[in-house]
Order: sequence, then structure tokens, then C-alpha cells
Amino acid sequence: MEKHYSVAIDGPSGAGKSTIARAAARRFGFIYVDTGAIYRTVALAVERAGIAFGDAAAVEALLPELSVSFGYGADGAQREFLNGEDVTACIRTPEISRRASDVSAMPAVRAYLLDMQRAMAGQFSVIMDGRDIGTVVLPDADIKIFLTADTRCRAARRYKELAAAGSGMSFEEVLREVTERDERDSRRAAAPLAVAEGARVIDTSELNLEQSIDAVCGVISDRLGANCNG
Ligand code: DC
Repeated sequence: MEKHYSVAIDGPSGAGKSTIARAAARRFGFIYVDTGAIYRTVALAVERAGIAFGDAAAVEALLPELSVSFGYGADGAQREFLNGEDVTACIRTPEISRRASDVSAMPAVRAYLLDMQRAMAGQFSVIMDGRDIGTVVLPDADIKIFLTADTRCRAARRYKELAAAGSGMSFEEVLREVTERDERDSRRAAAPLAVAEGARVIDTSELNLEQSIDAVCGVISDRLGANCNG
């Protein structure tokens, strides 16, 4: 049987995980799995159902009624589906970011999404990014990377993205949101954001995008013995 490789990339929001992981997946011919997008899809369902923040019992009761899945478009980009509807374009708002952080602290939600994530790694060579990939989802991943950057730097990147998308949020508001989300994701009891044992920590504060991609690909190719530029 062909060996499947798995690369786990964890880290706080705005560290550049998804852009870097997507580029690395392209270089190595692996499938990129954005697990944050899956939590965001559940968050959208919870918001649409009108459930209050923190109401874990109502969220748990909603889960059996949901069909959450993801696939890949003709361009190779990951697409999220909620009850058959393509919701990819609806899950990147600041409101859904807050909601996703809230629902992802609920053990029932994490359990609900666990098998879906593991199944991908069972079938394909993957680069999977999230908060608990190296610690919980794929503890036996071939390569574990913890990608981080200082808080102001991550907020500045996020601010640029939001401004380009036409958001009116100020830098201070974005900084507050990033800080709050980090705290919630790191302090929760269920699978908190943490550096997995054996993970290589890469700080991208002083690196541009290309340098960050090279740093991540370097770790992967060292471990796989492959040519990173291939
Ligand atoms: O990576 P992101 O910003 O799209 O993730 C949205 C939220 O989902 C984030 O605040 C934490 C949560 N999340 C998680 O708890 N575990 C993951 N593996 C991925 C995301």
C-alpha cells in the first residue's frame, strides 16, 4: 500500500498558516485541509439557528441535524458545504470568526468533526492546519510544525486582509479581536492551542511570505528527503 504522509501545522490566527500550508501542499503534491473552515461552517449553522454564544447544550442538540462536509473545486480550492449548500463565501466574516472560536471550545463539536479530519489523512497525503492537529487529530503526524508570529504582527496582517475586503474595522479593533481569539483558543479545556511534542516552531514575525513558505518547505523536505523546489 502506498504510504500517506501527514504534515500537521498548528498556530494562532494570523500566523499565515493557510496561505503557507496551501503553497507547501502545492509544492509537495499533498492535499491541503483547512480545518478552521470546517469549524467556521458549524459556526455558520449555529448562527443561522439563532443560538446564543456559549449555549453548548443548544449547539449539541443542533449537531445531529447538520450535514457538514468539504470538497475541492476544479481549481483545487477547498469548499465547505452545509446541508448541501456551498457556504465557502459566507464563513470569513469577523462574526463567524468569533462564533467559530466559541463553538470550537465545545467538546461535542470537536468530537463531531474529529473523524472527518482523520479520514482525510487516512486516504491522502495531507498538510492539515488548525489548532490541535499535532496534539489531538493527528498525534502520529510525520511532521509537526507550530507556526506563530507576534500578536501585533498577526493583527496587522489580518487588518490588511480585512481592509482589502472592504471592512471598516480599525487596527485597534482587529488587534482586540485577534488577542481575544488567541486567549479563548489557548485557554479552553478541550484541545487548546498548544505546541505539540516534537513540533518545530517557526516564528514568521520577521519573515515575508516567500521566506515563510521556504522555512516550512525546508522542514518538510528535510523530513521527507524530498526536493522542496520540485
Ligand atoms: O483557523 P481559523 O481562524 O479559520 O479557525 C477558526 C476558529 O476555529 C479558531 O478561532 C479556532 C477554531 N479551530 C480549532 O479550534 N481547531 C482547529 N483545528 C481549527 C480551528
